[in-house]
Amino acid sequence: MIRAFVAVRLPEDVAGDLIAAQAGLPAGRPVAPENLHLTLAFLGEHPEPVIEDVHFGLADFRLPSFDLALEGLGLFGDARPRVLYAGVRREPELTRLREKVVQAARGAGLDPERKRYRPHVTLARFNRDLDGVDALRVRDFAGAGGGFRAGPFRVESFGLWRSFLGKSGAVYEEMAEYALVAGPAGH
Ligand code: 2AM
Repeated sequence: MIRAFVAVRLPEDVAGDLIAAQAGLPAGRPVAPENLHLTLAFLGEHPEPVIEDVHFGLADFRLPSFDLALEGLGLFGDARPRVLYAGVRREPELTRLREKVVQAARGAGLDPERKRYRPHVTLARFNRDLDGVDALRVRDFAGAGGGFRAGPFRVESFGLWRSFLGKSGAVYEEMAEYALVAGPAGH
């Protein structure tokens, strides 16, 4: 079985800006630099041939490269923060890429999350038992990060990644990378 997702790798300078934004985090577990990414779709855990089918679907894409920028910090988790993330500026090309990835997954018989897609880069995770004081500190931290900006950067490829769940957190590995074609700006 392979626990897989489709994601965009971030350029080093953008990852550097994200690492800088993690500094001073008052609680929680920061995502390791090599694990920072933008998920396009989480596929779940499936037998290898199913993931291989998704791979062939993704390899067929001819979609344009595009520019993307990160902006602002935010929290998932209403009563208690669960995830601190950097927001992603919405671009029609990103939405289109995500839709095509979901189509490729459906073509392989999968049904990736139906929840509304909220593009983000996870920066840190918080345990369920985060206490009230820390929750407040984390909210302040996210609030103070409203002005965070990184990029824009050119998204020239995306990848099929697998996730190994270990005691000390998930380890990700890119199994295949797919090029986007030169976009309208000729980049
Ligand atoms: P997250 O970083 O916001 O948690 C690998 O786990 C990637 O798939 C992560 O970027 C994760 O998003 C995303 N993902 C989306 N839905 C998921 C789910 N139900 N379980 C695990 N990861 C999920």
